[in-house]
Formats: sequence, structure tokens, C-alpha cells
Amino acid sequence: MERRDAAHQNEGMTASALPLIAIDGPSGVGKSTTTRRVAARLGWQHLDTGAMYRAAALALHRAGLGLENRESLEDLLSGLDLAQQDRHIFLRGEDVSEAIRSQEVTRLVTPVSADARVREVLVDQQRRIGASGRWVVDGRDIGTVVFTNACCKIFLTASPEARARRRFLELQAKGQSPVFEAVLADLQRRDLADRSRAVAPLCKAADAVELDSSDLSLEEVVDWIVARHQAHR
Ligand code: DC
Repeated sequence: MERRDAAHQNEGMTASALPLIAIDGPSGVGKSTTTRRVAARLGWQHLDTGAMYRAAALALHRAGLGLENRESLEDLLSGLDLAQQDRHIFLRGEDVSEAIRSQEVTRLVTPVSADARVREVLVDQQRRIGASGRWVVDGRDIGTVVFTNACCKIFLTASPEARARRRFLELQAKGQSPVFEAVLADLQRRDLADRSRAVAPLCKAADAVELDSSDLSLEEVVDWIVARHQAHR
């Protein structure tokens, strides 16, 4: 995966700690928006690794490939041409930012992101990107696997009910008529899948600091992370 912006340099950092803030946590906790805002406040770049798994799931779906087609899967993964710029993600040059949010991709991405071969390819791309500058990166395994030497690790949580309420309001704002219990059940299903998979399950890194955002506004979460990062530089 290439990045289309100019990369900043890592001047002033020690070799052991990467100038990188890792923000991990469950679905629907607001990681992507928080990550973008924290990056904007610091003048750093942001990387949404969930969007990369979604784009991989979309590519598989479009190719009509299942995870069991070993050789074809490996061919597809070796030629996976992803790029991210601001809020947009490109697959072979096509802007797929909308397409990766479809219900179909949301359903398919859970097994795709649990596949060790998919993770190997995407983790490798993420490490290459993160080595090139100052980044705020969100995902599930950023602090535990991808960037264990990040200078700041946040594990962002919120109760399932608080996350479902936010998601429910988002869907209503888009003109949909969601059922709260269905939204909550879907989040709980994704939590279970993310936490119980064999490869890189969602969990808090031993050196991450946990922030429960159930009763906090987005601005309060962003302020907290920026202050935490600045205090520990
Ligand atoms: O954050 P999201 O809902 O866009 O993530 C999409 C999927 O990718 C979700 O099933 C979790 C998975 N994921 C992952 O396994 N590891 C990451 N670093 C990021 C996302």
C-alpha cells in the first residue's frame, strides 16, 4: 500500500519508540473519527487499518473468491493494490470508500480479517507505512502486534449499549430505520469474533492505557489522548 501524501520525517525520536499513536478497541467505539481528529490536532497522518481489511474483503468478493481457494487467494493478495488518502481508500486506483461500508462487506470482513494469510500481507503493508513518519493508527492489534514499539498506546472502549446507541443514531441520521436490539446484537457478534479469533485477537496491550468513552464526547476523548501523548513525550 502506498501513501499519496508527503511523509514527515522521524527527527528527534529514539530508535526504540516509533512516533506513532496506536488506538485499538472494539467496533463502534469511534476509533476512526477519534484517530482522524487526534492526527489533525498533532499535524500527523492517520491510517485506518479496518478500511484495509474491508478493501481486501471487497477485492475477494469482487473476484468471487472464498478463503478456501488457497492459490487464487495468494495471487490476489500478492497483487493487492491499496492506497489511502485522507478519508478515502483506493483499490487499484478506484475510490472504494463507500463500497467498503456496505452491509455485504461488513459481513464478509469478519472471516477475512481472521485469516492468517490476509493479516500477514496487510500487517506488512501497515508496518512499511508506519515506519515512514508520524502516524496515528487505529485497529484491533496495532499496539499488540503491528507496532509494539509505538510511543503511545490507547485502548479505547465503551459499553456495548453506548456503542450501539451511537451506531443507532448514526443510522437514523442516514435516513434508515434501525432496530436498537439488532444493532446491539450485531456489535456483540463482532466483539466476540474479534476477541476470540486465533490470530491477533482484540485485546489490550500490557503497556496500553485504557479509556472508557461511554460517557465522554468525541472532543473530550480527543483532548484526553492528545494530553496523554504530550505528557509522556
Ligand atoms: O474497524 P472496522 O469495523 O472498519 O474493521 C473492519 C474489520 O477488520 C473488523 O472485522 C475488524 C477487522 N480489523 C482487524 O482485524 N484488525 C485491524 N487492525 C483492523 C480491523
